Amino acid sequence: MYIHVIDAKKAIGKRVRLRGWVHRKRGSGSIIFVVLRDHTGIIQASIKRDAVSKNGWELAEAATTESSIIIEGVVREDKRAPTGYEIDVSKIYVTGISEPYPITEYQSTELLLDKRHLWLRSVKMVNIMKARSMVFRYAREFLDRSKFFEISPPLITGAAGESGADMFSLEYFGSKAYLTESSQLYSEAMIYALEKVYSFAPSFRAEKSRTIKHLAEYWHLEPEMAYYDIKKTMVLIEKLVSHISISLAKRNQDILAALGVDHTYLLDIRPPFKRITYEQAIDLLNQKGKSLKWGDDFGVEEERLLTEDELKPVFVTYWPRELKPFYMPINPKDERTVLCADLQAPKGHGEIVGSSQRIHKYDEAIGRFEEVERVKGVKFNMDNYSWYLDTLRYGSVPHSGFGMGMERVIKWLLGLDHIRDAIPFPRMSNRLSP
Ligand code: 4AD
Repeated sequence: MYIHVIDAKKAIGKRVRLRGWVHRKRGSGSIIFVVLRDHTGIIQASIKRDAVSKNGWELAEAATTESSIIIEGVVREDKRAPTGYEIDVSKIYVTGISEPYPITEYQSTELLLDKRHLWLRSVKMVNIMKARSMVFRYAREFLDRSKFFEISPPLITGAAGESGADMFSLEYFGSKAYLTESSQLYSEAMIYALEKVYSFAPSFRAEKSRTIKHLAEYWHLEPEMAYYDIKKTMVLIEKLVSHISISLAKRNQDILAALGVDHTYLLDIRPPFKRITYEQAIDLLNQKGKSLKWGDDFGVEEERLLTEDELKPVFVTYWPRELKPFYMPINPKDERTVLCADLQAPKGHGEIVGSSQRIHKYDEAIGRFEEVERVKGVKFNMDNYSWYLDTLRYGSVPHSGFGMGMERVIKWLLGLDHIRDAIPFPRMSNRLSP
């Protein structure tokens, strides 16, 4: 019977088989201790020369760090073993011998990134990747339970956004195409068929900014809802973020403990979240020593200052119209602003969600396109948007939606220093490999 490391404690006195990798090895002439790793943890196995065959002993001697092995033996409780349990091995089989492993104890960050394909086996990365998988699961779980349909947007598009500056371009059968920076417009088009939808796909950003929160390729969750306004959208975002955080805390205490994350903190991420306007955010930042004026955008430092003392996420609402894209409607109560809300993660982790109500009237959309062209000095190729404008011409309805950057959420929930550790193979302006 094959078991995983985690189940060894339930099999004391029983003969079991485990498949894993050599995490560490030490030994003498008559006994070799192998710490075996599988995805559930590590366990010590003792291989005594007189308890295994001659061939088995030779294999144990030959097995190097990270060799893949299969062992058979009896589980024993042993206070001296690293995890309190040990396997007395009677059979050992080496599936794949490892060449000298290039990662040793103290390595530079750069080397660990170069050897990412191997570093992903480290206990830390294993736990982060498990947590990532869970965060994806709970996000889907919440939206599925809330009766959303998952849709599949195209990732290659002909539309270059506002100027194409932040998009990766590629050759597409003789013409120019781009990797999508957001699937929002496609999510929007699908509400007229399915009403509440979400796309869960990568977005690509060619921005050169090398910061702790920017990836060139990230996973973007983009729900879009018919008949929602911005206020109802904020309530939905709160519930989604809370569901992810609380589910992670309740169902994965072992993973969080291994990463040094206090799960009780995550249990407290409950609605309502604080709401401040952009104007209030500017005042707050200026009280903290900045000298910002109306119309200034926030960078990493401003976002850090804004929520450094907060324990729960904070919405920053109603941003200046000149800072935001063409699809955001003017706020009727303050025409300097649009109906939008960004969610800032607490403890200075920065923006995790961008949301807004959407313009649903054709003429208004044309007006905003022209305004953005004027203010930002860009020129839209309207041929690329004719299909989108069509959706506003044929039975449009008020609607709203948002985009959540999954790696940013993971960075915050796990308290990671850098976004690159929230994704297995990070793509950044200075990194395309592995
Ligand atoms: O604020 P953004 O640019 O908004 C949009 O793309 C909208 N079309 C989304 C929508 O309403 N459907 O991006 C949304 C979120 C940000 O809040 C952030 O969490 C994440 O995407 N994000 C990034 N994550 C990692 N690396 C980057 N370079 C990111 N840029 C944005």
